[in-house]
Amino acid sequence: MAVAPREHFSSRAGFVLAAVGSAVGLGNMWRFSYLTAENGGAAFVVLYLAITLLVGLPVLLAELVVGRGAQESPIRALAHFGGPAWKPLGLVFVAAGFLILSYYGVIAGWTVRYAGIAIFSGFDGESAARFGEIATGWDAVGFQALFMVVTIWIVAGGVKGGIERAAMLLMPALFVIVCGLAVYAATLEGAAEGYRYYFETDFSKLADPAVIKDAAGQAFFSLSLGMGAMLTFASYLGRDNHLPNESLVIAGADVGIAFVAGLVVFPMIFALGLSDAVGASTVGALFITLPQAFAEMGAVGRVVGLLFFAALIVGALTSAISLLEVVTATVVDGLGWTRPKAAWLVGGVITVLGLPSAWSTDFLGLVDSIANNLFLLGGGFALAIFVGWVMKDPIAEVRAGTHGVRWFFAWRALLRFVVPAVLAFVLWFAVPATWEAVTTTLESWTAPAEAAPTEDAPQLEG
Ligand code: PHE
Repeated sequence: MAVAPREHFSSRAGFVLAAVGSAVGLGNMWRFSYLTAENGGAAFVVLYLAITLLVGLPVLLAELVVGRGAQESPIRALAHFGGPAWKPLGLVFVAAGFLILSYYGVIAGWTVRYAGIAIFSGFDGESAARFGEIATGWDAVGFQALFMVVTIWIVAGGVKGGIERAAMLLMPALFVIVCGLAVYAATLEGAAEGYRYYFETDFSKLADPAVIKDAAGQAFFSLSLGMGAMLTFASYLGRDNHLPNESLVIAGADVGIAFVAGLVVFPMIFALGLSDAVGASTVGALFITLPQAFAEMGAVGRVVGLLFFAALIVGALTSAISLLEVVTATVVDGLGWTRPKAAWLVGGVITVLGLPSAWSTDFLGLVDSIANNLFLLGGGFALAIFVGWVMKDPIAEVRAGTHGVRWFFAWRALLRFVVPAVLAFVLWFAVPATWEAVTTTLESWTAPAEAAPTEDAPQLEG
């Protein structure tokens, strides 16, 4: 079969916005705020920032280097620089894509549903029970499927016509909305309580391995690292991009939006006296407390809520696109399928794989922790070893597109020593913790009938 030339992003802004679109998503709003609450506020944020800078940024640059250098999807790109022995790591990346998108689509479906509520009925009497109805069962499946269809449709449209165009259109809108909401939140009476909670640092938490583990997982999830998403996007780049600068812009935008999202969520929740719900934070916290806050704001709440969930949908969409792109590009490159066929088929399979997550938020939380603690952190560790120790002269690849910068040896040293050391430390705690989460959840499901809830009751945690 004649091989078409590889498609490329048409501009620097197109690539950067697509990569920022991948990074900025549910991770910045849903996951960041629920983990910050769960791990006691600012200490978590400090750790997350430190790990992003020291570990996330070098790994991000490593992914861009491998992707652009090879001009191929993950499995082939790793084989290109490391030989066939590295193909299994590429497979792990693709598996992570399947896993994450399966539940990511479910949560995105919730956001679509809540946006619909804002438009059609307004928020009223929102509660944990209401969230249970929305978050699980056939309703959840329907909205998940709707979201997945849009995602697949964009990916099927190609790099320039689909992914780049969507990012150029959607990302600026997201920035404007989130910043506007933060300004609005500042005007609420009682917002100060929220800021205090957000910025109060409990220094004892800085050395808590459980908090460090969550911060590292969040740094990787939020920057879309450890599964080849950034690698795949970079494979559509020409050699004139300044990769270190692109990495800084992508990471800066990601951290910035997460931070501003916190300035939206915490003041709103505290201003309306819903802080108790934050204490018992779980997967569903954001979706239970915020609609309650919107309900109490009355008519304004409807508009604010609609904007908030619109921003979440946009973030989720541009991230889901990158998740699906990893798998789609792999199938297109590996099996020679057309892009639309690959996107629809793979996307369909992933939607079906998401059904258990649409049935139980416990299951969803479990898949989330497996994907992050094992796949992304493990994938990041392996990639650091790969670029730090195996790949020949990665620095030459970084140099292309830059003008004689000389500190790249520091990047390589980080990849060789610091990143593996930090990730090994984190994995040391994360692996058993994840294993324990899996076994306790399985036990709770197989527990004797009288202890279990009735079969069709929504499975809510907390
Ligand atoms: N970074 C995305 C978010 O924060 C999620 C994501 C993870 C996307 C891994 C791609 C790969 O929502």
